[in-house]
Amino acid sequence: MPESNLRVLISADRIQQRIREMGAQIEADFPTGPVHLIGILKGSFVFLADLARVLRRPTRIDFIGISSYGKGKSTSGEVKLTKDLDVSIEGCDVVIVEDIIDSGVTLNYLVHVLEQRRPRSMRIATLLDKPERRLRPMAADYVGFTIPDEFVVGYGLDYAENYRNLPDVCVLE
Ligand code: IMP
Ligand code: MG
Repeated sequence: MPESNLRVLISADRIQQRIREMGAQIEADFPTGPVHLIGILKGSFVFLADLARVLRRPTRIDFIGISSYGKGKSTSGEVKLTKDLDVSIEGCDVVIVEDIIDSGVTLNYLVHVLEQRRPRSMRIATLLDKPERRLRPMAADYVGFTIPDEFVVGYGLDYAENYRNLPDVCVLE
């Protein structure tokens, strides 16, 4: 695959450093645990793996599948649940783990769905935030990096299922 159209926006080193800071914030907010991490498939899988490993708290991990994008670069506005949670979150302290908040449509839908499952608390951790593109109001409790309105890939993020394995977050020009 030609990689000349990729420009590193956030290096793997910066990502790891920021994740350690985010982990410390989460630990301060959950002094006892357990913390129930819910990764949104598929883009969050790399971030979740690294975030989970900096948390010195009892931690549970589950995944939920949501699709709103198809193969394009912007949301279709239509969201569907493609994989539900394996484990009940009733009474749990939940942290939703997302790769990027763009329009806010995905998380808006997910928060609504998960609130009905009666967790004790629910927070949102996102590696990346593109606030310029919001169609729905949505603010995360833990934000790794706020980025400009550019399409990024790598570190879990894809374009038509490619580039998820890149160690850096790159702009796809
Ligand atoms: P939202 O519903 O528009 O907030 O979109 C969130 C989802 O869209 C993310 O979980 C990503 O899967 C995808 N997405 C949004 N922006 C980008 C991007 O720049 N690169 C890759 N995927 C993106
Ligand atoms: Mg996603």
